[in-house]
Amino acid sequence: MEIYEISETEFYIDKCRDYWTDFAERKGRSFRFCVVTFGCQMNERDSEKLCGILSKMGGVATTEERQADLILYNTCTVRENADKRVFGRLGVLKSIKEENPDLLICLCGCMMQEETVIEKLRKSYSFVDLIFGTHNLYEFAPLLWTRLDSGCQIIQIWKEAREIVEDLPVKRKYAFKSGVNIMYGCDNFCSYCIVPYVRGRERSRNPKDIIREIEALAADGVKEVMLLGQNVNSYGKGLTPAVDFSELISEVEKVDGIERIRFMSSHPKDLSDKLISVMASSKKICRHVHLALQSGSSRLLERMNRHYSKEDFLSLVDRMRTAMPDLAVTTDIIVGFPGETREDVDHTIDVIEKARFDGAFTFVYSKRTGTPAASMPDQVSEDFVKVEFDRVLQTVQRVASDQAKRFTGQVVPVLVEGVNEKDSSMVTGRMSQNHSVHFPGSPDLIGQIVNVHLDQCLGFYYIGSRA
Ligand code: SAM
Ligand code: SF4
Ligand code: F3S
Repeated sequence: MEIYEISETEFYIDKCRDYWTDFAERKGRSFRFCVVTFGCQMNERDSEKLCGILSKMGGVATTEERQADLILYNTCTVRENADKRVFGRLGVLKSIKEENPDLLICLCGCMMQEETVIEKLRKSYSFVDLIFGTHNLYEFAPLLWTRLDSGCQIIQIWKEAREIVEDLPVKRKYAFKSGVNIMYGCDNFCSYCIVPYVRGRERSRNPKDIIREIEALAADGVKEVMLLGQNVNSYGKGLTPAVDFSELISEVEKVDGIERIRFMSSHPKDLSDKLISVMASSKKICRHVHLALQSGSSRLLERMNRHYSKEDFLSLVDRMRTAMPDLAVTTDIIVGFPGETREDVDHTIDVIEKARFDGAFTFVYSKRTGTPAASMPDQVSEDFVKVEFDRVLQTVQRVASDQAKRFTGQVVPVLVEGVNEKDSSMVTGRMSQNHSVHFPGSPDLIGQIVNVHLDQCLGFYYIGSRA
């Protein structure tokens, strides 16, 4: 296997910086980049790395596409509407580029791993300057240099992942919290899901590299880390010496300065009792688990290739809630999977009520070409989905708002994240359970963990006051 050296990225960052220095001299200002992220926390974290690379080249971030000299879309393809959004916005970018021909348009991320997307881009989107995928994200600097040097459209996609590259520059969105990849890819092949095809096989990072990164984050003022993977509970597969997720998280707990630990996502089939007891006795692991149910029907779960039944799921939630009565449990639910009947949805509703979810993302099933579910013969009608989706959503909202009320009147630690968007005399933060809390406070509280009395619950968030 060819080994990628981080010094190669540094070499090309320097070359690009020279180019952008000339640009800055001509324009009398630094170049501005706009990175737009679609999709999940993995993509958010990848974007922080891409922003880190662009910043090292001398760029300044902007959120205004019309002000930018380089626009980079980090795309998602988990559902069809994610693809549609990107193609829709590319139409707008084309008109921006007509006004500003020097604008560089770059695309990367999960959608770029799909051959049909690349074919379409090659054929009809010649104004896109650079296209790369999930497996060669760390090649961004050399690829951008090739584009700047040659003036030609560059498309570079790898079908498979190669090695894990450590130590890319990072520009974090928040000073006080950070995502940390602990693994990449997914081996689960849930029958509806495209992620294993676009993110490749599961690869765990070496625990030493993870802890080194978290120690550096703590030294840089980070208080909360979110350990990221498609299925963090299977962390460690293939590593020597053997290590599992509960052992890794126990090591993270030892890092001074880190006060909160979160993780995402957990697959119910792999969440161990060992992890539950580590969580229950931890002072730092947040009282929140995101545990995707997908469906409450055991028949459908089997067709989804999820490897647990309705009863397994309920028993797991029960064990977790018994060990941690103040735990918040959130989930993902899909409505409209092939072959789904009203009885299947009844089971999903039953699980929502019994598991008492504190929140749920409810998705309409989206057919993803190449996945086993896409060729199942019994795709369901839009009318069925409309009715059943509403039934699920209403249950989720009723249960979640009932659940949220249980904390009203308590004093809880809140990590302050920013000034309230609607009222600048208030700040907004998060409880360990991940609920938002708004309370009177000044911007100097941002990044601090403070005790807040939860005065009032307004559906899914709280209004509080300093305790
Ligand atoms: N690995 C995570 C897990 O299993 O919990 C999920 C990651 S996936 C990016 C996020 C959610 O998207 C899934 O939990 C699922 O509910 C939803 N999803 C994935 N494929 C989908 C599809 N084809 N149609 C609708 N929703 C889908
Ligand atoms: Fe997709 Fe399933 Fe992997 Fe999650 S665990 S990313 S739903 S295949
Ligand atoms: Fe989307 Fe890729 Fe995440 S498909 S949900 S950005 S792993």
